[in-house]
Amino acid sequence: MTIENIKLDINFVRSKFPAFSEPLSKEWSFFENAGGSYVPKNVIDKLTEFMISTKVQPYADYPMSKIAGENMDKATNIFAKMINAKEKEILIGGSTSINLYVLSNALKKFIKPGDEIIVTNQDHEANISPWRKLESIGAKIIEWKLNIENHELEISELKKIINNKTKILAVTHCSNIVGSVNNLKLISNLAHEFGTIVIGDGVSYAPHGFPDVKELGVDFYTFSLYKTYGPHLALLYGKEDILKQLPNQNHEFLEGEYPYTINPGGPNHEELVSLIGIEEYFNELYHHHFNDKNISTREKINKINELISKHEEEIANPILELISSKNNLKLIGKNQIVNKNRAPTISFVSNNRSSKEISKILVENNIATRNDNFYAWRCLKALDIDPNDGVVRLSMVHYNNDMEIKKLSNVIKNI
Ligand SMILES: Cc1ncc(COP(=O)(O)O)c(C=O)c1O
Repeated sequence: MTIENIKLDINFVRSKFPAFSEPLSKEWSFFENAGGSYVPKNVIDKLTEFMISTKVQPYADYPMSKIAGENMDKATNIFAKMINAKEKEILIGGSTSINLYVLSNALKKFIKPGDEIIVTNQDHEANISPWRKLESIGAKIIEWKLNIENHELEISELKKIINNKTKILAVTHCSNIVGSVNNLKLISNLAHEFGTIVIGDGVSYAPHGFPDVKELGVDFYTFSLYKTYGPHLALLYGKEDILKQLPNQNHEFLEGEYPYTINPGGPNHEELVSLIGIEEYFNELYHHHFNDKNISTREKINKINELISKHEEEIANPILELISSKNNLKLIGKNQIVNKNRAPTISFVSNNRSSKEISKILVENNIATRNDNFYAWRCLKALDIDPNDGVVRLSMVHYNNDMEIKKLSNVIKNI
């Protein structure tokens, strides 16, 4: 059977997530995944196991400590393999916002007065503020503005502002409002012609398929693990050549122990270990759908990514079509997913009701969602949307099913 004929077994998927059978959550259709996803039982089990039997200071020689340390290393190693990075290229921090502040502080050493930094107004603020703040050391901040007609970041605009003085380009892989997938490979190739370091924000992209960071060609890439079926942590990838040159932001005597020294402190041990459960879940997903056993972790991820995107396209396109067909609603971004050019993160506003009113109607109908600016307030301002009322956002991942989509469609039809 070719991959085109294999369909995601949605009942199998949902059986792995305890939230779907919990009294509090089981009556709800969950469409706030871009805020944070449910976790599979594998993650909960790894967390519990760690807390019960190895919750001691890791890396000593007694068994509880030894196993704790081994599992922490295993989790980092597994994630490196999943995104095609080296183990020493992975940093785990508390959140993407924290990771990017830590990174911007470390990258200060490459910036001298007059150097330029490009940020966008399509990004979440987490990938804007840390870079804008480098103005205080003399950097000139240039904004790559989205096209207000189609809401996209256009490469032709980037070409007008990038030059040999551009030291950093911070850009989202996928906007948490517009949903469009930006071509990071093309952007990185262009930026590297000018010696520019590219920081890709993958927070809204990674829940729909872990990327191959080498294929993307970015210098740094970050995503929030609590949106990719894990606990409240975030991953930062950095090219080893650059990481090696970053200053020690940890204790003085730890000099040279990158990437550990880039973060001012260590990761949350139990949550780090629970990440092993994410890979375990994806592995189970793989073996449930495919037969080939002798393939690498990354090849498995590639196949699962295909399966997931096909399913996401099937469930999201009817909603995109419905919203764009309604005269009183205004959809942000593309009205169809074609070839993974858009995430199933769907934002819209109404021309006769506030986003708060609409979100209230959805919630009254057991659709878990909200209205907000989702910290992409520059994007909302550019689109002339009140950041206080924000957009209504319906965000899906691979575990959303047809029944939830039908329920959602019926509510939207009556708005
Ligand atoms: C696109 C995007 N980037 C960055 C962030 C910030 O992530 P964190 O909450 O881990 O700081 C978010 C959070 O919603 C996001 O959606």
